[in-house]
Amino acid sequence: MTTAPELPSARGPLSGAVRDILLGSPPPGPPPGEAASWDPFGDDLQLALYMAYEPHYRGFRGVCDAREWDLDLLRLRGAMEETFLSALRAAAPGDDDVTAELDALLVEPADGQGVSHELMHDGTWERMREYLAHRSLYQLKEADPQAWVIPRLEGQAKASLVAVEFDEFGGGRGENVHARLFARLMEGAGLDARYGRYLEFAPAVTLAPVNAMSLFGLHRALRGAMVGNFATLEITSPPGARRMAKALERLGAGEECTRFFTEHIEADAVHEQVMRRDVIGDLLAREPQLAGDVAFGIRASVLLETRWEEHVLAAWREGRSSLRPGAPGISGSASPR
Ligand SMILES: [Fe+2]
Ligand SMILES: [Fe+2]
Repeated sequence: MTTAPELPSARGPLSGAVRDILLGSPPPGPPPGEAASWDPFGDDLQLALYMAYEPHYRGFRGVCDAREWDLDLLRLRGAMEETFLSALRAAAPGDDDVTAELDALLVEPADGQGVSHELMHDGTWERMREYLAHRSLYQLKEADPQAWVIPRLEGQAKASLVAVEFDEFGGGRGENVHARLFARLMEGAGLDARYGRYLEFAPAVTLAPVNAMSLFGLHRALRGAMVGNFATLEITSPPGARRMAKALERLGAGEECTRFFTEHIEADAVHEQVMRRDVIGDLLAREPQLAGDVAFGIRASVLLETRWEEHVLAAWREGRSSLRPGAPGISGSASPR
C-alpha cells in the first residue's frame, strides 16, 4: 500500500508552478513574478516549498520519483529558499551566544497562555483534533528532517545525535517509532492518520516550521542551524508534552492516545541534556565558527513556533477553526471512543 499523499491544490503562482513541474507539465520558464514580490511567510511560498521538499521524503501519489532531482524544481526551490532564509534571518536577529539562547529556552512564559495551556484547561475533542491535524505535518515525519544532518557531523556530536535519533525511530522497534505513536494518537482521536492527509488544510504558519527543518537539513552549510533546531525541539518538548498528556487525560483518552506524550516527557528530558552537552558542545568545540548559525537555528525555531501559537490562539479566541476550511474529521464535540 502506498503511503504517498495526494498533491494539494495550488494557493498561488509559486505552488502552481511546483505542482506543474511535479506533474511533468512543460517547465514554467522564469519563476512566477519577481522574487522580491514573494511573501516569504505566505501560503503560496510555504506550500510551494513544502511540495518541493516532499519528493525527498515520501513523494506524492501520481508524481514520478525521479522528480526529486528535477532541475526546474531545484532551481525554483533554491530561489524560494533564498527568500525564506533571508526573511528568517531578518526576523530572528541576534548574536552567536548559544548558551544564552539555550538558557532562554528553559524559561517558560509566566503568563501560561500557550496552545497546550489552553487545551489542558479548556480543551475539547474538536480543538484537540485541530491541534493534532496541525502537528501531523511534522510529527508523521518526526525526526526525518534531522536525519539529513548525520553525514555532516563527526565524532561525539555525530554519535550523540544518532543516539537521540535512535530513540525517535523507536529504538529498533517499528511499532515504537515516534511518528507511529503519533499516528496511533491521531487514530485514537478519530482522525485520518494517513501521512500528509492534512497538508491541504495546513496554513502557512504550520508549514513554515517544517520547511525550516527541511531547509536546514538539506544544506550542509546550514548544519549549525539544523542542530540548533533539533536542540530547541528537544529542550522545549517536556513541559508541553506534560500539559498535552493532562489535556488528553481530562478528555478521557486512553493510554494508546496519551503514550505519544508520556513517552516524550521522559525521553526528551534525557535528549535535552544530550543535545546540549554532547551534540552542540562537541560540534562547537570542533567548529566554533558555527556558533552564530546554531544560535540562529534556535531563534528561528522559536520564532516560527510563536507565530504558529499566535495564529491558533487568535482563531480560537474568535471562535473559528485555525485550519484551512474543509479539514475532514475535526468537528463534533463527542469523544471519539
Ligand atoms: Fe520524539
Ligand atoms: Fe526527543
